[in-house]
Amino acid sequence: MTTTAIVRTACAKVILCGEHAVVYGRPAIALPLAHLRTRAAVTPGGRAFHISAPDIHAEFDMTSDATRPLAVLARLTFELLGQPPIPGTLTVASDIPPSSHLGSSASVAVACARAIAAFCGHELQPQDAGNLAYEAEKIYHGSPSGIDNTVIAWEKPVWFVKGQPAEGGNSPIALLDVQTPILVIGDTGVATPTRVTVGDVRRGWEAEPGRYEQLFDQIGATVIAARDALQVDDWHALGAHMNANHALLQQLGVSCHELDHLCEAAQQAGALGAKMSGGGRGGNMIALADDEQQAEQLRVALRNAGAARVM
Ligand code: MEV
Repeated sequence: MTTTAIVRTACAKVILCGEHAVVYGRPAIALPLAHLRTRAAVTPGGRAFHISAPDIHAEFDMTSDATRPLAVLARLTFELLGQPPIPGTLTVASDIPPSSHLGSSASVAVACARAIAAFCGHELQPQDAGNLAYEAEKIYHGSPSGIDNTVIAWEKPVWFVKGQPAEGGNSPIALLDVQTPILVIGDTGVATPTRVTVGDVRRGWEAEPGRYEQLFDQIGATVIAARDALQVDDWHALGAHMNANHALLQQLGVSCHELDHLCEAAQQAGALGAKMSGGGRGGNMIALADDEQQAEQLRVALRNAGAARVM
């Protein structure tokens, strides 16, 4: 065990294609965002394992508030390492706005699991960091697919099918070896927790299973087509599949006026494709650019259209 503060970080993510349908077994593609990060630090000392997340006004001891997601995550991390909890303070700060669909909760969980493990003298494998974060994600979101914690723990583009091991490995994913597309990200400034839209889709699916299954199949088909386009760097085809995916998400009822408005602004400014990304009804959209010059035009267009933040 160390006697000084130990810091570990984790990235953010975007869903390129396939959100919501991925909860129902269809494939999805997610990309890491390395420049937006969560930092978790563990400082030794005190009488208990204390958790401090000032961004979300959280201050509590692991054992006295044992059902909170980060308390569960800390306990499971110590258990995985076969280590009784060591007194210390875990402090978390993130660049990722909460409920903006950039993976803030999964990023916090992965960074914390890594920092606690490092505090105990271990570096977590991505598979273990992802699995631990998934336990916290289930408490935050109800029935997450696992895509957020997976892409964040591996920090690589992922092709994800819920619960399906990748060929030849024990991981539920296939890591895509593809060139990263040039994406501009526009934030609506509207914060909507993922569990809200995931819950609404579930109620819709329960009421009209046939219609929802058909939409999920159509989304799954756009994801397969998007992967084929990604693998040959066909950005025009990828953009068309992103547009088609957005239209299907509108039919699922998870887009909103603000997201549609930013997607239209990006398309009018020449984006190859644009769609909401993640849980929806707010948060972020993504627009695909052909090159850096076009990306700058898209940034300007999104700012002019009222985006709260453009990346
Ligand atoms: C969230 O990033 C993606 C959703 O499909 C939820 C999930 O997969 O858990 C909306």
